[in-house]
Amino acid sequence: RYEKWWLTFGIGALIIFLAIVGIQAFHQGHQPPSAKVKVDPERVDQTEPFTKPGLHKVTGKDWDYELVIVASAFMFNPGEIEIPRGSKVKIIATTKDVVHGFEVAGTNINMMLEPGYVSEYITTFKKNGEYLIVCNEYCGTGHHMMSARLKVV
Ligand code: CUA
Repeated sequence: RYEKWWLTFGIGALIIFLAIVGIQAFHQGHQPPSAKVKVDPERVDQTEPFTKPGLHKVTGKDWDYELVIVASAFMFNPGEIEIPRGSKVKIIATTKDVVHGFEVAGTNINMMLEPGYVSEYITTFKKNGEYLIVCNEYCGTGHHMMSARLKVV
């Protein structure tokens, strides 16, 4: 009788374990990396903070600047960015149309921008230089042209 009890217990535990793993996988697979903040893709231009794309100094936060980026086929707004070296920057980005990528070449900054969602990433730019921002998600005929320039000064 003991064996039967243990067998039942074992199978029960296994089912619960698999259910937890399954639920976690489902949630991760169906949620974009930073899906906490949503935005209406049709009203990006009228939605804070995307009303003013660019670099903005902020106070009272854990970061010094917010870099607001609006992607659309086939450009980033703004297309030229200048960031003071050593500053901690929160990148806040979204797209007005299809899925775009936001990769700062030569760094580990690499986000997927999905319509309806705000992608965020906090980073510190430690080295002077010019970086190329590229779209690394195929977004249409102008995909390979879609880029911006970031200068750390
Ligand atoms: Cu935008 Cu590829």
